[in-house]
Amino acid sequence: MDEGMEATIGTKVIKLDETDSTNEYAKGIAPEVPEGTVVIAKRQTAGKGRKGRFWASPEGGLWMSVILKPQKVDPRLVFVGALAVADTLSDFGLAPGIKWPNDVWVAGKKIAGILTEGKAGEYTVLGIGLNVNNPIPPELRRDAISMMELIGTPLPLDRVLERLLFHLNAWYRIFKECPDIMMAKVRERTFILGRTVRIVEDDNVLIGRAVDVLDDGSLLLDIDGQLRRILYGDVSLRIP
Ligand code: ATP
Ligand code: BTN
Repeated sequence: MDEGMEATIGTKVIKLDETDSTNEYAKGIAPEVPEGTVVIAKRQTAGKGRKGRFWASPEGGLWMSVILKPQKVDPRLVFVGALAVADTLSDFGLAPGIKWPNDVWVAGKKIAGILTEGKAGEYTVLGIGLNVNNPIPPELRRDAISMMELIGTPLPLDRVLERLLFHLNAWYRIFKECPDIMMAKVRERTFILGRTVRIVEDDNVLIGRAVDVLDDGSLLLDIDGQLRRILYGDVSLRIP
């Protein structure tokens, strides 16, 4: 998308000092607001990841949710967020990789997470948490990192938001027009392909080599020579 193209995402931005979770706030207002409305909070008191897992959201990070009203719910919308975050990080000179299905990593650590929630036929909320200048809680420091830590200086949050909105608009447009092009970029940005991974789903654990991300968003796993398709759901992917 060139810079002059019409944007949907971010035309209306609701800025809050504090909320429980921008995803919860966004779900509350979704029926009444236009597509592309963004909710952003300086801090979240109950930021969450998938399956209600805790998401640390102190001041300094980018905690936001985008209200989308696609024609039908599509699990691949998570990749609109992951690619936009990855492109934003590249704009700041970092080298991001997507960890299928919903994380973005830099330098072997998690820098961002995406959480999509929605109501079929009505809306999808695309929640994005990006560690920018926020401190990382001590218990997460082994696995998580911020842009400030990587770059060595705090970044203007407005500028990061502006780049993120630009890339979200570009990828949402591509997703609507030709999702396979978007999936090709996901494949390029995914750093797990060719590696041995562990897929954890409730009590079930699968270990195999990540072979491909298919056009429908699923992961193709080679388990001792047998190919198995892993659907994007509530599975967690771990690198042993
Ligand atoms: P992962 O595979 O990245 O651990 P997951 O699938 O197990 O993710 P998610 O629901 O995707 O779990 O993400 C929530 C997890 O992210 C939390 O359990 C915590 O370990 C981690 N986390 C929480 N806050 C942050 C943060 N600000 N930055 C990076 N990681 C965080
Ligand atoms: C994950 O890695 O599981 C996803 C984390 C998503 C965090 C963001 S922060 C903004 C939005 N509000 C939330 O409560 N969660 C998402």
